[in-house]
Amino acid sequence: MKFVTVVGARPQFIKLAPISRALRAAGLDEIIVHTGQHYDENMSHAFFVELDIPKPDYNLEIGSGTHGAQTGKMLAAIEEVLERERPDGALVIGDTNSTLAGALAAVKLHIPVAHVEAGLRGFDRSIPEEINRLVTDHVSSRLYCSTERSVQWLRDEGITRGVELVGDVMYDLLLQMRPRIAERTPALLADMGVERGGYTVVTMHRPSNTDDPDTLRRIIGGLDRLGDLVIFPMHPRTRHSLARFGITPGDHLRIIEPLGYIDMLALMASAARVVTDSGGLQKETFLLGVPCITLRDRTEWLETVEVGWNTLVATDPDALLAAWRKPTPPMPTSNPFGKGNASQLIADDLRSLPDAL
Ligand code: UD1
Repeated sequence: MKFVTVVGARPQFIKLAPISRALRAAGLDEIIVHTGQHYDENMSHAFFVELDIPKPDYNLEIGSGTHGAQTGKMLAAIEEVLERERPDGALVIGDTNSTLAGALAAVKLHIPVAHVEAGLRGFDRSIPEEINRLVTDHVSSRLYCSTERSVQWLRDEGITRGVELVGDVMYDLLLQMRPRIAERTPALLADMGVERGGYTVVTMHRPSNTDDPDTLRRIIGGLDRLGDLVIFPMHPRTRHSLARFGITPGDHLRIIEPLGYIDMLALMASAARVVTDSGGLQKETFLLGVPCITLRDRTEWLETVEVGWNTLVATDPDALLAAWRKPTPPMPTSNPFGKGNASQLIADDLRSLPDAL
């Protein structure tokens, strides 16, 4: 049985790692298509090497662009691959433009689509990912949900057929990589000249935070007020915006290149706090037991907020400082992200995909 998996952006490579491993272990034939949405060495290839993901069978080299141009080019190029490969099903992951293009290209060719991380909603259609999620879920035949809430959100939209609660593949990967993360931590902290609990980690790349000069200046000003060393592995989008708007952060904000998976997880696991606008990091901090402060006014991962482990501060510097000073909450007693076997459940279930359209 043959499946085409479409990926293109950094978080998808991370999620692909455990899925691909499980598919191959289950004896399924997987063709990996990389759209080329992310192309810098440290945003793409490095993850394939580090996480032992098979080299993509196709790299479409689409690169950056406006939403329409980028998604349109992907659609045409993925269609060609699907025509050639004629798989039994297509697998798409998450909510990027690569996800949307993969799902649309496949379903138009009557190839059934399976969506990993289905049913996520932020209820804000100004966010590009929200449109990608809505469309992808509505054309998918198998919908693999990370949490109970996602299942409910799909039900609210009338989607019940093909919905499976499997847990979150990022939890699978974290469990698989824990020994390597622990092993790497002492050398990483020594290299960076920091001690456990002695710094804050920041990541930020959402257009709503990076593309408006006043908003970006306000957030950077807020980070400057934290009385701590702030380590900021910076996404290229944010780096471009800082340069374009002439914003220079204060001295205790240390900007570094984007990190690989293990270094990033090791750095976060020993941080006092993590400040982010990434969806993935909101989950990972919860799973690592590090308090998270989210630079957004809403989140798809409400579970992390409900247990007090994640605080939404939007772009307000006062709220950021107050959240950063809040005492560490008690450890959550349950984990809404499953049992760490989501990839296995997906691989087992995929056999039913060809009959699902
Ligand atoms: C994309 C996803 C987002 C995901 C994020 C993870 C969409 C709509 N957005 O956002 O959901 O959270 O990836 O990182 O699909 N750039 C480079 N080198 C690269 C990649 C990007 O310099 O390897 C720069 C380019 O200037 C590009 C910009 O970053 O225009 C944005 O890249 P793009 O892929 O459009 O969106 P992301 O912000 O990365």
